[in-house]
Order: sequence, then structure tokens, then C-alpha cells
Amino acid sequence: MKMKQLLSLLMMGAAGISAFAADGKKENGILVVYFSWSSAQNTKQMAEEIASAVGADLFRIETAEAYPADYNQTVRIAKEEVQKNARPQLKTTVTQAEMDRYDTVFVGYPVWWYDAPMAVYTFLESFDLSGKTVIPFATSGGSGLSDRNLRAKITATFKDGLCIAGYRPGESSRRQITKWLSGLGFVE
Ligand SMILES: Cc1cc2nc3c(=O)[nH]c(=O)nc-3n(C[C@H](O)[C@H](O)[C@H](O)COP(=O)(O)O)c2cc1C
Repeated sequence: MKMKQLLSLLMMGAAGISAFAADGKKENGILVVYFSWSSAQNTKQMAEEIASAVGADLFRIETAEAYPADYNQTVRIAKEEVQKNARPQLKTTVTQAEMDRYDTVFVGYPVWWYDAPMAVYTFLESFDLSGKTVIPFATSGGSGLSDRNLRAKITATFKDGLCIAGYRPGESSRRQITKWLSGLGFVE
């Protein structure tokens, strides 16, 4: 491995994403970023399925201040954040240069109050994503993808997303994900 690649690898490791595959080759320009909160980690699991199907790097969006473990408290805080159009601080992020290694960004979130959690906006709004393709995906208790606000706030080329309501890991969700990715031309 060349020194430059090694340095990049170390830097990316610090930021939480790795730009190079184990053999030192650059990844295929696809990043999956996601936020996931509940103990079931539904969106995390969906994100991992997608990343493994398309061979993408993964980055987890986390807030600097964790939401309470209590469901009702988090529901209340999330509602206040929507009302205030808040941008909660993040634990870590990546630089624009790191983001620019990717031209396709899958953005995953649990639907919170018929929208993406505000932390997803904190993350996405810190980059210039124009010229990139953004593909939303979500898990929910029953709502649809709820990506209207996301499409309004983020300047990028959006493609059709997928929401799995009542997500459960397993064959049925894997089939839905594969069908969607194949419709987008990512998998056979
Ligand atoms: C703060 C909060 C708000 C939510 N709002 C909605 C909603 O508007 N519509 C819905 O269908 N589900 C809603 N849910 C349920 C989550 O979207 C669902 O459980 C999701 O799969 C959780 O994903 P996670 O395990 O990645 O956190 C909400 C959950 C929380 C905690």
C-alpha cells in the first residue's frame, strides 16, 4: 500500500468511514449514511443491507447529546426539535473533501414526526451535495418515506427512495431492498 493511501486510510478511519477496500483500491463512490435510535436499530440494519448489496461505505450520524433511552421523552424532544427547526450538534462528521469521494449518497433515517430526524439535516446541510445523487431510505411505524422536507432543503439529484414500515430483518425486507436497488440499476 502506498504511503498516501495509508494516510488517507488512517484519516478516514478517524472520521468513521473507510474510502479504500481491503486491497487498497478506491471504493465505488457510494456512501450510505444513516441515523438510527431505537433499541431495535431498524434503520442501521437496513443501512447495512444496502451497503452490503451495493458495496458502499457506511457512516452513522450520531448526536453529540444522546437522546434519552425513554421512548416518550425522545418523542417529545424530537417534536420540539421539529417545531424549532433545530439542528442538533453531531458527535462526528466528515469533511467536504471526504464527502467528495462519493457521487451517490444513500441517506437513511427512522421517520420521526413525518420527517427525517433533525440530526440528518445537521449532517446533510454541512455539505455542498449539488452534483451528487441522493437516495433516501427509511424505516417507520407505518408512515411513508416522508422525504418531502428533505427534498426541499437539500440541493442534489434525488432518486426514488424506499421506506419499510414495521421493518424486521430477514428475507422479506431483503427482497424489498433488492427489488428497489435493482429498479435503480444498482444490482442485477
Ligand atoms: C421520536 C419518534 C418519532 C416517530 N415518528 C414516527 C412517525 O411520524 N411515523 C411513523 O410511522 N413512525 C414514527 N416513529 C417510529 C419509528 O420511525 C420506527 O420505529 C423506526 O423503525 C425506528 O427506527 P430505528 O430503530 O432505526 O430508530 C417514531 C419514533 C420516534 C422515536
